[in-house]
Order: sequence, then C-alpha cells, then structure tokens
Amino acid sequence: ELEEEIGKLDKDFWVSKEKLKEISERFGEELAEGLEENGKNIPMNITWVLGFPTGRENGSFLTLDLGGTNLRVCWITLKDSKRGDLDVKQHQYKLPSELKTGEAEALWNYIAEFLEKFITDLDLKGTKDDPLPLGFTFSYPATQDYIDHGILQTWTKGFDIKGVEGEDAAQQLRDAMAKKNLPIRLVALINDTTGAMIASAYHDPSTIIGAIFGTGCNAAYMEDCGSIPKVAKTAGITPDTPMAINCEYGAFDNAHRVLPLTKYDTAIDAESPRPGEQAFEKMSAGLYLGEIFRQVLVDVHSRGLIFKHQDVSKLKQPYILDTGFLSAIEDDESEKLSKTGDAFKETLNIAPTEPELEFIRRLAELIAVRGARLCVCGVAAICRKKRLSSGHVAADGSVANKHPKFKKRWAGAMAEILEWPEDREEDPIVLTSAEDGSGVGAAVIVAMTLERAKRGK
Ligand code: BG6
Ligand code: GLC
Repeated sequence: ELEEEIGKLDKDFWVSKEKLKEISERFGEELAEGLEENGKNIPMNITWVLGFPTGRENGSFLTLDLGGTNLRVCWITLKDSKRGDLDVKQHQYKLPSELKTGEAEALWNYIAEFLEKFITDLDLKGTKDDPLPLGFTFSYPATQDYIDHGILQTWTKGFDIKGVEGEDAAQQLRDAMAKKNLPIRLVALINDTTGAMIASAYHDPSTIIGAIFGTGCNAAYMEDCGSIPKVAKTAGITPDTPMAINCEYGAFDNAHRVLPLTKYDTAIDAESPRPGEQAFEKMSAGLYLGEIFRQVLVDVHSRGLIFKHQDVSKLKQPYILDTGFLSAIEDDESEKLSKTGDAFKETLNIAPTEPELEFIRRLAELIAVRGARLCVCGVAAICRKKRLSSGHVAADGSVANKHPKFKKRWAGAMAEILEWPEDREEDPIVLTSAEDGSGVGAAVIVAMTLERAKRGK
C-alpha cells in the first residue's frame, strides 16, 4: 500500500524536462511584464544600485539584516577585495517569533535596541555630524524611489506585522533610531539578493546573478535602464546606466497558470497569512519544504496508511518541521535509517516502522527534488532574457548552503532547460557561494552610494 502511495506522490511531485521548460518560458514573460510597468505580478523592483562595484570600495560600515533566519548586525571594514582583506565583527540572533506577527513599533524598537547594544559593546563612536553609515538589508518586496527609502509592498515568508505594508520601512527604522538618539545614518535599504550579487561581484567579476535559496526564493541581476520601460523616462537616467533589479520572483505565477500545484500546496497557500501570494516561493523555498512534507504525512496518516496507533498530535502542528529536518533525512546514511527514526521520536514523538522510514526517505527526496528543479526556472529565464551564456550565480541561503544535494540537482535541471550538450567539459553557468550578502554586500553598496553622493550623482 505504501509502495502504491509513493508511486502516486512521485507522479504528483515530479516536474519533467518539458514542464520545466514551459514554466521557464512563462517566467520570461512575467519578468518582462514587470519591467514594463509597476503593479505587475512579478514586481521587478528597481534598487538604485547603479552598477557593479570596482573592488576598490573601502571604509567601515554598520550593516543590519532582517528577513532570513537571523537578525544580524555587523561592523565591516573593507580594505582590499583582491586580497580578500576585510574585517567583520557581528552579533546574530534568531528574531523572536512573536515579533513576526506583532505591531510595527515593537519590531523597530527591538531592532533599534539591538543596534544600540551593538554599538555600545563595540564602543563605536558616531556623532550627529558624523554618524555611523548603515546598510539595511530588508529582504521583502519594497518600492524604492531612491536608495534609502523602501515602501513595503507586502510581507512575505510568513511575516505579518501590522502597520508596515504601504509604509516606508527605512523611515520607520530611522524614527525608532532617532527616539534613542542613535548616531546612525541609514544610507541604503537593500534586498538580500542584491546584497548577494554585489558581495560576490566585489571579488568575482564573473558574477551575473545574486540568488537566495533560503527561507524565501528570489534573485537579482543587472539591467540597463534603457531596457526598463518603467524607468527609462526618469529624469537624469541615461539608457546605458546599469540598474540592479530585485525580481521578487517568489510571486511568479500567482494566477496558477503553469505551476504544477498539488493539493498540499493549495492547503499551504490557503492557511498562510497571504493566500494567493508568493505561489512559486511556497513550492520551492525553505520555509515551506518541511511544511509540505508534514502535510503529506498528515494526509497519508488520516487515510490509515502510516503511524497506526501512534500519537500524531505533534505532527498536526503547522510548521513544526523545518528544512533542516528534511535535509537530515536525505543525509541519513545510518543502517535502516535509524537516525531518521530517532529524529521522528525526538521531534514528533512518533516511532516509524521500517517500511514507514523508507517511505519517509523517498517523500523527503521527492519534495526536495521538486523544489530544486523549480528553483532553476527563474534563473534560467533571466539568463535567456539577458542572453547570459556563462558566469556565476552567487547563491546564499539555508537551502543552497545546507541541503546536501541541492547544488547537484539545480545544475542538472539547468542543463535540461538550457539544453547544454551532454559531452560538455564543464557547466557554463555555475552556482557559487555568496555567503555574506547582508554583511559585505550591504557594506559595499553603502560605500558605492556614499562615493556617488560625493561625486554629486
Ligand atoms: C544570509 C544572508 O546568509 O542568508 C541574508 O546574509 C539572507 O541576507 C539569508 O537573507 C537567506 O537565507 P535564510 O536561509 O536565512 O533565509
Ligand atoms: C522573499 C522576499 C524577498 C527575498 C527572498 C529571499 O521572497 O520577498 O525579498 O529576497 O524572500 O530571502
């Protein structure tokens, strides 16, 4: 019976080469629509990061990161990108979960306190006239009229804090810092994808895209302003000015035209704080992979096929299983999957039988494989659109870095979509690690912004 069930699930979760191509085609259309005008499904947000760094950016900067697994603040000194010479001091915490669904004021006050403690601990001195420059990585979709401004379009990744959507998040943080008289000046609001791209480009000129495969799923790339109809007419911008675009492609196919949704995906969407949004992200990103897995187990259990006579109350808790749990199952090389059995006992108070363990392993694989294959569609669409045939996709995030087989699966699907020859010596487009987008990337962007301001641009 379980064999039959996994066979059915395999059919539901497998995304064929043809389907990948169809998704990627449609992806290309939605990316182009987002560049045309504001308010399209994929927002294609302009970031005011005008070009790649030279590698000579230097100085010391504060950076703050909100939007992934951690809340992090760093003091970064950039010295010499060629020698990889830089200095990073940092504090990192998990954001208390009650803040994620609370009120705006509580969030910004918490962050301002966090900054205050950091600069006090490090004895960083800023003054009113010479404040400490801050790069704020705010990894949500934001409309930016300039680089130190960002109106939150919608919360994503399960956040649901009242009083920020439709408001300028940069100004809200500034107000909270002003209340505490912090000697800090917010110079740039940055998406994590842009940060990853710039952190990588700082020392690697082959960088073409910055991508996050983490709690969420998204990418940034460099576009010429002349190819962005919605900004082409903005005063003072020449068509050849490069502009980093934060795609926000987690929103791809919110209309559900091509994505192969299962009933589990539909349930996750319906139960999320923003149903109908982030359709692509909900099938491929780290926040959701464990939840998809849990939904399947609950369903199969309700039909009497697994965990008979076991207490499944914990399994019934939404989001109890994170991506790490899934990765550990795929990583398990112990005899008879005993490590997976232990993890089930510990986290869920369930003792699976041997055939159940086999089922669990195959299910974890199906979900992770589908996620990795889908993740490729957006990047492939950008490459096709920009006619990028080689280069480095600088990737960050817990799925890219911690999932044992992600990179291999991603590369395999990329080869299928872009029809790379079987006998190639190496892959022309390669996933590389950009591990410090919200630190180094944000610092480099602040340096570039201050330099541009000095030149009066
Ligand atoms: C971190 C980056 O390494 O990865 C952040 O510095 C980014 O900017 C994060 O948001 C994404 O990964 P995750 O898994 O924490 O969402
Ligand atoms: C979500 C956010 C986006 C971010 C991504 C990865 O999709 O909306 O801004 O880049 O997650 O963290």
